[in-house]
Amino acid sequence: MADRRRFLAASLAATAMGTLSSAAGAAPAKLSGRARPRVVSTWDFGVAANQAAWQVIGKGGTVLDAVEAGARVPEADPKNHSVGRAGYPDRDGRLTLDASIMDGNGDCGAVAAIEHIAHPISVARRVMEKTPHVLLVGDGALQFALEQGFAKEDLLTPDSEQAWREWLKKSEYKPSANSENETYGKGKPGDAHNHDTLGLLAVDAQGRLAGACTTSGMAWKLHGRVGDSPIIGAGLYVDNEVGGATSTGVGEEVIRTAGSFLVVELMRQGRSPQQACEEAVRRIVRKRMKAAKDLQVGFLALNRQGEVGAYAIQKGFTYAVCDAGKQDALFDAASTM
Ligand code: GLY
Repeated sequence: MADRRRFLAASLAATAMGTLSSAAGAAPAKLSGRARPRVVSTWDFGVAANQAAWQVIGKGGTVLDAVEAGARVPEADPKNHSVGRAGYPDRDGRLTLDASIMDGNGDCGAVAAIEHIAHPISVARRVMEKTPHVLLVGDGALQFALEQGFAKEDLLTPDSEQAWREWLKKSEYKPSANSENETYGKGKPGDAHNHDTLGLLAVDAQGRLAGACTTSGMAWKLHGRVGDSPIIGAGLYVDNEVGGATSTGVGEEVIRTAGSFLVVELMRQGRSPQQACEEAVRRIVRKRMKAAKDLQVGFLALNRQGEVGAYAIQKGFTYAVCDAGKQDALFDAASTM
């Protein structure tokens, strides 16, 4: 079982000084110390993703190989209703997937609203490596995937279809940013029942970075809706000179602020990963004061030294950290409320 250490807002002062402390007084987690190589990712399901990525690094694979391998884990998980094959569909009952991948050298690829392909992250990598483009969408992305030899599958699982049919009974058409959270509102947006995107960042011993981001997006979304995850600079950004960042939550808010790019640029200007995530979240809250109280956005950042930062609008955003010391650490991010 993952080692869960809970950090509250009180830990922020310690964070700024270079360590994270548990509010419960447990041993400090030295997430700010030089500890590369390291893999970090969003949410509880990030633990398993990290471990898959870590194995690749352990066998001498590249960080790019590692983040792709990590992202494929939740994509294949039949219990994960927000990433990959078991994701909840849009309001038309169609499962459309978004994914992006980025190497710290600036190479990147993405697919948006792709259907019938179980591992969009691997198609995103092919876009990066086999085409002169960065982003393929919809039918074009599917056509490309099939040309590349990916299998066409019916991905909608019985569970997901049942959940969609439940939603159809009321069929409330509320194109609000939080509709997925409202529909499965067993708690606050971003809690264990509502978490979404897998964002994963890795750094190797030489300070080389890569990142991956994959999601089925918001449940019951309008057909054709695309969130932040496949948008380079929004859901994911990585630069070997500085570090990487990824996001989770309501993608529209992240796109509006070019969130992951913002986090990396703040780190470039000298902020720690923690400070950069906090500033990016606070910018969303400041500009979107009314909406922010009901929605969740979380950022996760990793710099080239292996230092980690995470921050969210609301409580409930968890992130997983894997390094030579521990491969199943799971933390609660600090938040504005
Ligand atoms: N962050 C995932 C999405 O909004 O689609």
